[in-house]
Formats: sequence, C-alpha cells, structure tokens
Amino acid sequence: MPTSAEVLRRTGGRTVKSIVYDEATIAAKVNALGAEITSAYPDGELLVLGLLKGSFIFLGDLVRKIERPLQVDFLVASSYGAGTSSSGLVRLVYDPETVLEGKHIVLVEDIVDSGNTVRKLIGMLRERDPASLAVCALLDKIEMHAPMPEVRFVGFQAPTAFLVGYGLDHAEDFRHLPFIADLM
Ligand code: IMP
Ligand code: MG
Repeated sequence: MPTSAEVLRRTGGRTVKSIVYDEATIAAKVNALGAEITSAYPDGELLVLGLLKGSFIFLGDLVRKIERPLQVDFLVASSYGAGTSSSGLVRLVYDPETVLEGKHIVLVEDIVDSGNTVRKLIGMLRERDPASLAVCALLDKIEMHAPMPEVRFVGFQAPTAFLVGYGLDHAEDFRHLPFIADLM
C-alpha cells in the first residue's frame, strides 16, 4: 500500500477517501481474467476492443495475460445531452477500421455503472456480424443495472462509490494512479 504522502504526491495534494484495490490486487485479478479469456476462446479469431479512454491501462495489462493470438483495436464513444453516459444516448466518435465480421469480439470497459454505454455498444457491434460478442469489465456496479449476460468477464463487483485510478477519471484527472481509490 502506498503511504498517504505517496498518494498526495501523485494527486497534487488532493485527498482520496481510501484505496479500494491496490496494485497487487489488480494485477492478480487481471492475471485471472487473462487466463479466463484464454480458455474461453480455444479457436477462431479474437479481437479485443478497448473502449477509450477508461480502458487504456486495463487493456494494456490484460492483453499481455491472454496467451493466444489476438488483435487489438479501440472504440471511442461519446454521450449526447448532459454529457453523462446515463443519458443512454451513445455515439461512436472513433469507429474501428478492423473487420468485425466472423471474429470473436471482447469489448473491454473500465466500469459498468447503469450499463447504458455497454448496452448501446453491444447493439451497434452486433450489426457487424461478429462470431460472438462479450464484454470484459474490470469493475461492475451490479446494483446499478439489470443483469447483463453479455458482461461475461468481470474483475470486481464494485461498490457504488465514485472510483478513480487505473484508467478511471474524475474530470480527466487521476487516470494515471496505479491503484483504484474511492474519491469521496
Ligand atoms: P454507464 O453507461 O452508466 O454504465 O457508465 C459507464 C461509464 O461511466 C464508464 O465507462 C465510466 O467512464 C463512467 N463511470 C461510471 N462509474 C464511474 C466511477 O465510479 N468512476 C469513474 N467513472 C465512472
Ligand atoms: Mg469517464
């Protein structure tokens, strides 16, 4: 565990309430998810699609724990209206050029909250006729949404707190923290 002085050095003096998942805990979980994904796809072409920006660290660590051939691409989604994903309207700002048809797709998300983002993206990606489509989320706030069978690979069932670090931001800050903290 980092000392509070180490945390404050990284945050520029802004305090976090607590560290929810430390580096070692995250690494062990990412390892396990990599093994799970490796054995879930014995054959076929696998495309790991990272949803930016939140998944950038998770995806980088995860693909190195998947021991089979795969390709990597990214999606950038943006939400309309108030700028929160809970508006339920999601638009693709960057659309992968990779062919999705006939491939096993694993969409990598940092965190599933209301589930709106993932639900919309699943609908859009299904239209490209992948061989299969699954979501891998590092964190899942399961109390915040109805069960989602597509969310097949989950790291942690997250508390309904506002979490930052390891890719997760608050107003674009804190993404670089190597651990995940409860901001409030
Ligand atoms: P959803 O569409 O409500 O499931 O929201 C998912 C998106 O909201 C994620 O991709 C994150 O960008 C953001 N989000 C939800 N909860 C948190 C949180 O606790 N910390 C940081 N971002 C979050
Ligand atoms: Mg965000």
